[in-house]
Amino acid sequence: MPLQRPIPILVVDDEADLRLLLMEALEDMGYAPEGAEGGDRALARIRERHFPLICTDLNMPGGLTGLELIKAIHEVDDKALTILMTGYATTESAILALKHGAYDFIQKPFKLAEFEASIKRALEHYSLLRQNEDYQHNLEQMVEERTREILGLKDEIENLFEGFVNASITAIEARDPTTSGHSSRVATLTVGLAEVVNSTEGGRFGPIRYDERQIQEIKYASLLHDFGKVGVKDHLLVKAKKIEGERLELIFQRLHQRAVQRVMAEMERAWRAGDTFTEGRVAYLQEQVVLETQRLVALLMRANEPSVLPQDVSEGLIDVQPLTYKHWSGEERTLLTPEDFQMLQIRKGSLSLEERKAVENHVVHSYNFLKRIPWTEELKRVPDIAHAHHERLNGKGYPLGLAADEIPLESKMMAISDVFDALAAHDRPYKVAVSVERSLQILEEEAKSGLLDADLLHLFIEARVFQLTNLGKAAS
Ligand SMILES: [Fe+2]
Ligand SMILES: [Fe+2]
Repeated sequence: MPLQRPIPILVVDDEADLRLLLMEALEDMGYAPEGAEGGDRALARIRERHFPLICTDLNMPGGLTGLELIKAIHEVDDKALTILMTGYATTESAILALKHGAYDFIQKPFKLAEFEASIKRALEHYSLLRQNEDYQHNLEQMVEERTREILGLKDEIENLFEGFVNASITAIEARDPTTSGHSSRVATLTVGLAEVVNSTEGGRFGPIRYDERQIQEIKYASLLHDFGKVGVKDHLLVKAKKIEGERLELIFQRLHQRAVQRVMAEMERAWRAGDTFTEGRVAYLQEQVVLETQRLVALLMRANEPSVLPQDVSEGLIDVQPLTYKHWSGEERTLLTPEDFQMLQIRKGSLSLEERKAVENHVVHSYNFLKRIPWTEELKRVPDIAHAHHERLNGKGYPLGLAADEIPLESKMMAISDVFDALAAHDRPYKVAVSVERSLQILEEEAKSGLLDADLLHLFIEARVFQLTNLGKAAS
């Protein structure tokens, strides 16, 4: 409330002469005085408008005393300053006046100059108080504005980061389009499981309460867990068979070459021996050779499957190993190169040991990539959570082979979501999606074998977390 000139000043005194004298003097000084003959009138006036300064007599017959009035004024208008005018000034009454909230007091009779000085002091004090208030108010406004700016900036950074995460996911899925949606589904499932853990009372998960930021940390770690796949060679990510493409073609071509050579060799031998070579004999010979070639092709095709290698196929391969054909250079070479033989002898899956290591390395790539991001304090565990998503409770996971108690709980949740999604997704053209029921059974078997956390899996199934994505919704 800044001072508006002329400044209104209320003079309260039952002595009309003195009141009028003071009002006149105040008017001469350039103020806008008003008068009241008693406390009650004064209070009524103060209720109507604001007076920066009120000068009141101490003793007024009937109604409020000056001290009572001062006290009452502060309740009605705490910004008004008061000066007590008294003819009975004692130290005691002075202290009392100040105690009641008076700004100053003057002892009657006083000189007008004394009165004017007191008025000026009071009004200067009033101005200072208002300036202070303004300053305080401006400061608060400034702080509010700055806070708004900072919060806006924080939102912008968060949006920027969210955009960056989404762009990263697009990059992973562009490398391996058949796993499209995997990262988002793993995030939905893992966050869903964390929320179930949150609402679990008592037991192992009773004390665990993830706040909003920790949930976000789990979400980012899940969304980016496989980002390292961008560092794995394309053909390994989508490899369906042990030997593929031209390399497989080449083996079959060599088999054909071998068959032609065998027919030619037999015909040459007969011709040298002077044996007659009838049409029927040629046909028979060709049929034998074709049958043998077909048998070998069938064996190689079975060996090339990524499922568990059957014993008879494994033994059959050993018989194939010494078989040769004549290379165009004249050299006699084996049908299967040592690498081909080794690949076909893979016990399970389509990857050799080195290839498997290269694929498994995606976790290390993810970790190294995520470590380079200057995470905020609240998100700093994202790299560690993502790093452990292939660790297993029995210590046989990768890349570090961590023991159960070294694996973050959030990574144990992610492992369940990751395996479930990998099983239930129709993610590869060659892979038959496992039904939801069977996927859950497999998860239970893995928990029993000490790979996955059984308590978390129990919540995953019990709370039907698996139904949070499209893949699980099919289940009844
Ligand atoms: Fe992974
Ligand atoms: Fe994954």
